[in-house]
Amino acid sequence: MDETKTNHIPVMLEEVMEFLNPKENDVMVDGTLGLGGHAEAILKRIGPRGRLVGIDKDQRSLDTAKERLRPYVEQTYFVQGDFRDLDTILSELGITKVNGILLDLGISSAQLGDPQRGFSFQAQGPLDMRMDQSNPVSAFELVNSLPEKELAVILRDYGEERWHNRIARTIVRQRAMRPIETTADLREVVLKAVPSPRGRGERIHPATRTFQAVRIAVNRELESIAVVLKKCVDLLAPGGRIAVIAFHSLEDRIVKQQFRDWARDGKVKLVVKKPLRPGEKECQENPRARSARLRIAERTV
Ligand SMILES: C[S@@+](CC[C@H](N)C(=O)[O-])C[C@H]1O[C@@H](n2cnc3c(N)ncnc32)[C@H](O)[C@@H]1O
Repeated sequence: MDETKTNHIPVMLEEVMEFLNPKENDVMVDGTLGLGGHAEAILKRIGPRGRLVGIDKDQRSLDTAKERLRPYVEQTYFVQGDFRDLDTILSELGITKVNGILLDLGISSAQLGDPQRGFSFQAQGPLDMRMDQSNPVSAFELVNSLPEKELAVILRDYGEERWHNRIARTIVRQRAMRPIETTADLREVVLKAVPSPRGRGERIHPATRTFQAVRIAVNRELESIAVVLKKCVDLLAPGGRIAVIAFHSLEDRIVKQQFRDWARDGKVKLVVKKPLRPGEKECQENPRARSARLRIAERTV
């Protein structure tokens, strides 16, 4: 599938461009290149003498972005890696300071929409969920081998799943009979474990939180965010900005805390005090945007 021609819409693009505010000749980082939507807009702004470092864990995302950004190859570095290694990545490119950093967290519509990647409980596929295909640990390994207690903690902490103990117990019982191999298998186990949707009093599918939790654990997402944020402030030139789009409260909490700490230490000023949310129109056109929260900070000294 040619993702560059599908309906991928970068989340909060207008707000990102206004507040990240890339300028001609700037050196920018897109730590979550994805399908290259935000990157394309940034590249247009920074012009032919600007530079963009585009990072993604997922080689397939990088390939798609490369295709989309073909007119800009001369000024773009495509890096397969984890944004947590941003300092090393930049130093290997001979870059010491950048004017802007964008992190648009989570997975892309292409990753979610490809059943073979195993991210979605709405499609039948292998229980994979790895953003980085070279990661030896997939969702299959975690779900079929972690002790019940550890599974329950993952479901509680990364999914904020109220029924974490029941789901973990049912997973362990089920896998003793036969491995949980597919997204449909895991969805069925969750449905078996939790009370009926009406009893849960929630509008989201009962498997939503479990899938989110397992995905975060497989990709060690929260750890990567915490690690990269510690490094970002020193990599920004004075006046440089960092923009982070978070999609759930666990991510946003880490960003909010780090931004506050920097502000308290006088290292940044918060460009917006409260996170920006997408407008009504964007949410209607792109339901994925609904939970987005954008925070921006500017390096002061
Ligand atoms: C929401 S998408 C980004 C979409 C992109 N802004 C666009 O406009 O097309 C997030 C991307 O970041 C990648 N990603 C997530 N966590 C990462 C990490 N720790 N290091 C590198 N890439 C990561 C995912 O593989 C995915 O392709």
